[in-house]
Amino acid sequence: MRSFPGATRGGDDDPNAMRCAVIIPAAGSGTRFGGDLPKQFLPLGGRPLIAHTIGRFHRHPSVERIVVCVSPDHLATMQEIADHFRWGNVKIVRGGESRQESVLRGADSLVRGGLGDDSIVAAHDAVRPFVPADLLDRLLEALAHADGAVPATMPTDTIHRIDGGVVVETPDRSLLAAAQTPQCFRLGVLQSALARAIEEGWPATDEAAAVARCGYRVRVIEGDPRNIKITRPVDFESAVRELANWSDE
Ligand code: CTP
Ligand code: MG
Repeated sequence: MRSFPGATRGGDDDPNAMRCAVIIPAAGSGTRFGGDLPKQFLPLGGRPLIAHTIGRFHRHPSVERIVVCVSPDHLATMQEIADHFRWGNVKIVRGGESRQESVLRGADSLVRGGLGDDSIVAAHDAVRPFVPADLLDRLLEALAHADGAVPATMPTDTIHRIDGGVVVETPDRSLLAAAQTPQCFRLGVLQSALARAIEEGWPATDEAAAVARCGYRVRVIEGDPRNIKITRPVDFESAVRELANWSDE
């Protein structure tokens, strides 16, 4: 693995593993999914969906600490989950009104916890429970050559730009990438980009959009098709099927 300034190394199992912190935004209400309980807390194979997500990072040798951002209504639920699994290095903070605000609150909490601007941080959707360990390894490797590293899959559908329900443009599909998480950055870069995005009202559904718009170079690496996001009920059905392929817990 290549070295770069400010990187810290080490890990319980792999002495060469790079260290990182993980921010897990989990303060959404799941409007597209529906239901009373936000989707991240629904039981999947006998444990809350978010417990699968956190567990994968908790077991990863490069992950030093995790901060989970939840809505005020679910702070107690999240604390119960963390206590049940005895996760010592998981901090729970209040999320914000938007995903950007939730991730920024997580970043601020890491700074308060003593992490410097050069520390490496990964932001990951609470509702992507099948994040493979090697995906984080590849992202940390890619971050050595860029200001950010994000995984993406190449769209298989044709994507149109529409206006009023009418096709106005059809971008070349080979120039499009469908972003996943985790998305990795230096803490200072992520924090300043999100603060600016919020202040200036930039619409962004991921961190890469804000960081790239600030002029930083965000490298795209190959995502993993198993790393699905639970957005609608049909995705939960896919997750139940996918769970059978994961025997590491
Ligand atoms: N999120 C967050 N804070 C918000 C909004 C979203 O932490 N204010 C999190 C969600 O909990 C989720 C991720 O960001 O882990 C984005 O996934 P998404 O599918 O958009 O979740 P929701 O925003 O909950 O769903 P919806 O957009 O359908 O309301
Ligand atoms: Mg959302």
